[in-house]
Amino acid sequence: MSEIAEKIHKLKKERNAVILAHNYQLAEVQDIADFSGDSLELARKAANLDEDVVVFCGVHFMAETAAMLSPEKIVLLPDAHAGCPMADMATGEDVIALKRQYPDAVVVCYVNSTADVKAVSDVCCTSSNAVDIINRIPKEKQIIFVPDKYLGGHVARMTGRDIILFDGYCPTHARQLVEHIDAVRKLYPGAPVIVHPESRKEVCLAADEALSTGQMCAWAKQSSASTIIVGTETGLLHRLRRENPEKMFVPLFDQAVCENMKKITLEKILWSLEDLSPRITVPEDVAKKANRAVVAMLGDGPIG
Ligand code: 13P
Ligand code: SF4
Repeated sequence: MSEIAEKIHKLKKERNAVILAHNYQLAEVQDIADFSGDSLELARKAANLDEDVVVFCGVHFMAETAAMLSPEKIVLLPDAHAGCPMADMATGEDVIALKRQYPDAVVVCYVNSTADVKAVSDVCCTSSNAVDIINRIPKEKQIIFVPDKYLGGHVARMTGRDIILFDGYCPTHARQLVEHIDAVRKLYPGAPVIVHPESRKEVCLAADEALSTGQMCAWAKQSSASTIIVGTETGLLHRLRRENPEKMFVPLFDQAVCENMKKITLEKILWSLEDLSPRITVPEDVAKKANRAVVAMLGDGPIG
């Protein structure tokens, strides 16, 4: 183990801390984490922790969601500037304006959103459970989906529902194009192409499957293919290769890199454990409202 990894382990014990990492984190960050997962797995984990301190290796909205689910814990985001450009595309005011236009609609917000947006939404979803969440909304209800137009469009196609979309998107996944799929299919004939549903509509349609990062891990394990083309942020390749050493994983586009996810480093994890900073908190009034949307997502009753 490296010197810095040893220091992190020692300090983690002294602070009674747990390290959670999203699947897009740097390989060395995933390797030091107590738990790596997709957004839904991390939210579930964050809601049921015994430790006093959570070091969240991901982006701001993820740490914010953890802080709302476990307000009594100290939630640290090792780089306070690790934001999500898509989450920042929609404001609470934008959602309120849409609600004025469609007063009877149920508002579903992708978990990649600010606490202000969650506070004016009825329910959250992640890319793992978006279809299930939409299916829990009565058929006669209108649905507004914020902020990701591509995930919202994918869910509309999967459920056959008419969904009012906000014009947000993930800049990292938007870099992946159909021409990348065409090129890779020529290079690796017969290899399945799996993409994240944050990808452009035409990319989702040209791929074999559109899956969340957690679903990609499960899909890759059960697949009989020896080569799999992966259309998402390249950080996931580390986990796929570690869990399936006998299979070959090829990035659909090697520049699908989220600069924000890559801001978390081992040094910053160590510093944040030393200083118990940067700490992420959510004002109580916002957290109370926003938590309702997150708790509705984690439950299983009808919505709206
Ligand atoms: P999932 O890991 O839930 O698929 O989320 C992808 C993502 O873009 C997180 O920012
Ligand atoms: Fe946001 Fe996209 Fe980065 Fe995920 S990969 S944090 S959605 S910018």
